[in-house]
Amino acid sequence: MTLMRAAGVAEFGAADRLRIVEVPRPVPGPGEVLVRVRAAGVQPADVAVRSGWLPPGAPPVEFPVVPGNEFAGIAEATGEAVVGFRTMRCYAEYVTVPESQVVPKPGGVDWAAAGALSASGQTAHTALERLGLREGETLLVHGAAGGVGTMITQLAVRQGVRVVGTGSAANQDYLADLGATPVEYGDGELDRLKEQGPFDSVLDAAGKGNLRTSVELVADRARIGSIADWELARELGCLWIGSDRNRGRLAELLDLVSAGELRVNVRAAYPLEEAFQAHADIETGHGRGKVVLIVG
Ligand SMILES: NC(=O)c1ccc[n+]([C@@H]2O[C@H](COP(=O)([O-])OP(=O)(O)OC[C@H]3O[C@@H](n4cnc5c(N)ncnc54)[C@H](OP(=O)(O)O)[C@@H]3O)[C@@H](O)[C@H]2O)c1
Repeated sequence: MTLMRAAGVAEFGAADRLRIVEVPRPVPGPGEVLVRVRAAGVQPADVAVRSGWLPPGAPPVEFPVVPGNEFAGIAEATGEAVVGFRTMRCYAEYVTVPESQVVPKPGGVDWAAAGALSASGQTAHTALERLGLREGETLLVHGAAGGVGTMITQLAVRQGVRVVGTGSAANQDYLADLGATPVEYGDGELDRLKEQGPFDSVLDAAGKGNLRTSVELVADRARIGSIADWELARELGCLWIGSDRNRGRLAELLDLVSAGELRVNVRAAYPLEEAFQAHADIETGHGRGKVVLIVG
């Protein structure tokens, strides 16, 4: 058995439990690709996994638990640069995935951006589809500066949708740069938002009770979606949006990045050994775009 390095936890707990561990290097089965990982994106869901939550469909818990749902790397058999996604175990030197979960990486897209695109990008793309946005409509995005918010803001703007995005004071210029009309969240937010309406649709990419504000701004709850607050979405009769990840969606996003029409804003990159710092960064709950681990 060949071993490899990964970042994982021997027991669930705080960020400082995330350490380098030696685990068996995965062996590809029929129809699978073995990828040597160069970069792996970090998400709030990974923080939840580290703390003891497991995503639906995740393999049975076996410690050390290695989080991570997105990656970019080199296909071992062909030497081709690829971008892909899987459920868990991407904070590692190698991953195996079905061929249907990788696409070629365009040469001009750097490793960090490629490794951090797959999860937030596909979630944003799915949300845009589910909310049925059309050219000329106005979309409110709560948490527009985050990993998903950064993506949906740009994707909507390039489809001719007007985006109003909420963020902290520190991120107002960043949001304007993405093409959104920025609005500061916090005290007086509803009044500030009403000045920017009317809205056709809302994406809640922040949780924190933002759906309660949303239902005061858009009457049709089928056009209010959340990726962050399942319980409140259910209580208020709003849409719960889960990421529908597939190869076509990822290829389309990569083409946009390659053409310079979509930017993956990597706000911080950490070596695999500092995965605990990457988690601490995500746990601040603030930031512009994505955090990524550089492997090897
Ligand atoms: N359903 C799914 O399939 C799915 C997929 C991906 C992510 N998610 C969930 O979606 C959420 C966002 O993910 P992410 O990767 O974008 O997270 P992230 O990169 O950590 O971004 C979170 C953003 O929330 C903003 N924020 C903090 N407090 C806020 C408030 N009170 N009102 C509005 N915005 C606020 C922050 O903006 P400032 O920096 O300006 O404070 C930050 O940019 C997380 O809960 C994540 O678990 C769900």
